[in-house]
Amino acid sequence: MSRLILWVIGRPSGHNDRGLLYTLVDDKGVLYDLRDEAFAGLEKLIEAGKLPSGMEMFIDIMDAWKENGTDILFRKAPHLLIVSALEESAAPMQDCIIALSTFELYARSRGIATIWNGLATLTISQLVPSLQKRLGIPEDHTIGYAMGFGIPAIRYERTINRGAPKVNRVR
Ligand SMILES: Cc1cc2nc3c(=O)[nH]c(=O)nc-3n(C[C@H](O)[C@H](O)[C@H](O)COP(=O)(O)O)c2cc1C
Repeated sequence: MSRLILWVIGRPSGHNDRGLLYTLVDDKGVLYDLRDEAFAGLEKLIEAGKLPSGMEMFIDIMDAWKENGTDILFRKAPHLLIVSALEESAAPMQDCIIALSTFELYARSRGIATIWNGLATLTISQLVPSLQKRLGIPEDHTIGYAMGFGIPAIRYERTINRGAPKVNRVR
């Protein structure tokens, strides 16, 4: 794992600020505790009617968890990597996405599955802010994204044909 992160820290950053923090949860038990905290925080928010508008999907996510333990929030990924950047960096979001995209490619080349986790990102950065503190992510950091990863449960025989990309070639 530390080799994966070493690979990622060589990536460029805006203004060469290198203000990234890699928050790693590589212990499944710790991640499951975190997941419990996340769901508890979301439940409070929903019950208090304080879920921001546009985030109603979290009601269904909560119901699925409570009814049969279906984990839509973390997709049962056993590990999580969150990349955050000093708010005052020149390009905090771009730096985080470059780092995680590189991590994703390298992980996949080593047979490790990844998931860009927008729902966990929203939960940590906006809906249940106590999680940011619990994770030890400094307040002056912008959370770029959370990525779940682990040994894949499924092996795909082929990829999906997504058609041709739209290219705007200027002549
Ligand atoms: C920025 C971003 C955020 C995503 N967030 C989630 C998420 O919160 N939960 C989830 O299950 N999948 C999430 N995905 C996965 C996409 O839904 C998935 O990549 C897409 O459906 C294509 O499927 P494939 O990656 O298996 O080809 C996210 C993907 C991206 C790029």
